[in-house]
Amino acid sequence: HELDMKLEALEKGGYDHFMLKEIYEQARSIRDCLRGRIYPDQGKVQLGGVKEYADKLRNIDRIIIVACGTSWHAGLVGEYLIEEYGRVPVEVEYASEFRYRNPIITEQDIVIAISQSGETADTMAALEIAKERGATIFGICNVVGASIPRITDAGVYTHAGPEIGVASTKAFTAQVTVLTLIAFYIAQQRGTLTQSKLIEYLTELNEIPTLVERTLQCNDRVEEIAARFKDSNNCLFLGRGSSFPVALEGALKLKEISYVHAEGYPAAEMKHGPIALIDAELPVVFIATKNSSYEKVVSNIQEVKARGGHVIAIVTEGDTQVREMAEYVIEIPQTDDAFVPLLATIPLQFLAYHIAVMRGCNVDQPRNLAKSVTVE
Ligand code: G6P
Repeated sequence: HELDMKLEALEKGGYDHFMLKEIYEQARSIRDCLRGRIYPDQGKVQLGGVKEYADKLRNIDRIIIVACGTSWHAGLVGEYLIEEYGRVPVEVEYASEFRYRNPIITEQDIVIAISQSGETADTMAALEIAKERGATIFGICNVVGASIPRITDAGVYTHAGPEIGVASTKAFTAQVTVLTLIAFYIAQQRGTLTQSKLIEYLTELNEIPTLVERTLQCNDRVEEIAARFKDSNNCLFLGRGSSFPVALEGALKLKEISYVHAEGYPAAEMKHGPIALIDAELPVVFIATKNSSYEKVVSNIQEVKARGGHVIAIVTEGDTQVREMAEYVIEIPQTDDAFVPLLATIPLQFLAYHIAVMRGCNVDQPRNLAKSVTVE
């Protein structure tokens, strides 16, 4: 037993929990995920795993993404990216819903399954249905050689390395990285972005691991904020555009490991319900980075403030407008809209982590949850 404890401590590499170690690994895991796949100087993305399907992707009418849990959130980020840059319509489905509703799939479709473990029963079943109906099936998985990568026609591994914490962290950002690569790969095949734009985006993407390193420095600040809100029993997460799925993911992390009721919402939907929850107790976390929806988010922050809610805002370094309004701000480096999810997710992971630790929860193995759900 003592030996087991020593081994585990060794595996945690000096961190108190696997989750914290895995959060800190993200600069490296994203770098590993990008390695050999982007050539910024040439504005070129190379994805060996799907190369055979380059023509199919050039002429594709629709992509369907199926996944569960955190992987489904990555899929929603992917929808924004693929539609914005590759200009292909994308549908993102819960695998468990998709498999039971006689979905409309044709031989023209590409169905992409996203799964860290590559073993999730519902995701696997959704893929089998898609395959039966003649679609081309792709996988975005982390575990090499798992069931999903074995049945798919093609795929892209995330290369995040083994993830032990039940709450997914580095696998999520690696999934988003792969989807970013796929979006630019499609853009390159279809010519929806000019060569100079591709060079610009890929040059910035190449810098993301460094920006992730800088983002990780927000840990102490987030820990202070966690101490202030550790006893709250509810929390709302709001964002717009691709920060909406980031809000969903922030809420899921908090729910999973600290058992705090949390909801993620598109910021503009707040007025259709969640606004009724706002009182002097409720913490509201905004993703309010400087991008195309900034001004809109600023007005949503005003609406929360006007009702006495506590605003915690994730902002771009140097932001002054939100700083004046929000009670707490967490700065992340400036980057293009396309890459905000990769950075903005990190403070939310830290927030859930610290609140869970402060509430005495079992961070790496939360009650009732499993790392991989291989039964229905
Ligand atoms: C479980 C895990 C989640 C994960 C989900 C999907 O619920 O606890 O962290 O997001 O399954 O798993 P997958 O391996 O398919 O990504």
